[in-house]
Amino acid sequence: MDKLVIEGGKPLSGTIVIQGAKNAALPILAASLLADGTTTIDHVPDLLDIDVMLNILRELGCRAEHSGGTVVLDTETAHTSHVPESLMRQMRSSIFLMGPLLARFGETQVYQPGGCAIGERKIDLHLEGLKALGAEIEELGNRIICRADKLRGADIHLTFPSVGATENIMMAAALAEGRTTITNAAREPEIQDLQRFLNAMGAKIMGAGTDTITIDGVQSLTPCRYKVIPDRIVAGTIMVAAAATRGHVTLQNTQPAHLSSLIHVLRRAGVQIVVDGDIIKVGSATRPKAVERIVTSPYPAFPTDLQSQVMVLLTLADGVSVLKETIFEGRLKHVDELSRMGADIRVDMNAAFIRGVPRLYGATVEATDLRAGAALVIAGLAAQGKTVVEQIHHIDRGYEKIETMLSRLGARISRYSPVPNN
Ligand code: EPZ
Repeated sequence: MDKLVIEGGKPLSGTIVIQGAKNAALPILAASLLADGTTTIDHVPDLLDIDVMLNILRELGCRAEHSGGTVVLDTETAHTSHVPESLMRQMRSSIFLMGPLLARFGETQVYQPGGCAIGERKIDLHLEGLKALGAEIEELGNRIICRADKLRGADIHLTFPSVGATENIMMAAALAEGRTTITNAAREPEIQDLQRFLNAMGAKIMGAGTDTITIDGVQSLTPCRYKVIPDRIVAGTIMVAAAATRGHVTLQNTQPAHLSSLIHVLRRAGVQIVVDGDIIKVGSATRPKAVERIVTSPYPAFPTDLQSQVMVLLTLADGVSVLKETIFEGRLKHVDELSRMGADIRVDMNAAFIRGVPRLYGATVEATDLRAGAALVIAGLAAQGKTVVEQIHHIDRGYEKIETMLSRLGARISRYSPVPNN
């Protein structure tokens, strides 16, 4: 398995252009199934998760090419709605293929995505939403068979503003008969991007970005060309890395409004942030200040996907900070690895109490999930000495060639791929 080797202690500096958003591109690729013909999507990052989604679409009969950041997807030849279990297990969020497959074929067969390092990843809200639209769902072990001769609009209330469930329901309702209203909907920017994409195909959807989304079903949708928004979590990760290494970095191709909760936290920590259009400048020459209390919550509150990265900054802060994780029950596994680098963190239930230390020390650590892996890279960049991060396939799911991206900002980082012993 590949690993990253980092020589820490060097401030990041320079300019970086932010990649397209993984969590916008994935549902948009799935939604392309709602129209017959060739859809072109620009600004799609080159990531393992994108590869998995394209392989699933090819398995369903589509033709898909991904080069130079553009995906060309021909859904004309899609001939099955059964998603192979092996592919579903590679990426849990493929569960939001259910909505488009059900709308296109009237039936679909998928598999329970299963839990992962960060949590159980339940899908009850997805299934309840599709049932409300008229689907009949049968669960045989971990196989889920879903049928609907005709999807009909409904009023759906989500007991939790699930991102994936909101997306699944939007996609299924786009071709349903009549009006669907989703209340307590997720408000993430990726939901807004999905609405823009679906409406560009001829859908009639309003309200994404608020807690109430209205979808008026249409007869059919038309393929289109669409550009995906920048990845706010990759941007946030770089911003924290700049602050943790006391560097000065300019980020281009961002949407600062998507990062307001992180910008607020970083400024409370004493980091200099200047926003100018789609440019964010991050600078820090002093030790960060502790941030009394940060609680992860659904957008626009502080995002769970930046929790582990900000924790690294707080391990070096002057004082005690409290970071509470309320979205995923298993998303504090990076604490053990950070403690091995000299961090002083105590976990009580889903809250981490972080007492700042003068410095972190390089160590060999293991990525347990995508964002925890990114956090360990930041810790390696800030630490004194050498850090080896193992299991970095987790990181490759969400960051495009992370070592190249960081080397361009002056980081001393390289990837080692063990020679296969044949
Ligand atoms: C999306 O996951 C993102 N993934 C996640 O990003 C992100 O952390 C998450 O939203 C929260 O913002 C993609 O968009 C591909 P949820 P999703 O449904 O849709 C519970 C990353 O690092 N829940 O909002 O799976 C669930 O167990 C990834 O890029 C139910 O109980 O998130 C979890 O505790 C990680 N029943 C909480 O809601 C359901 O039916 C949030 O889940 C669905 C979810």
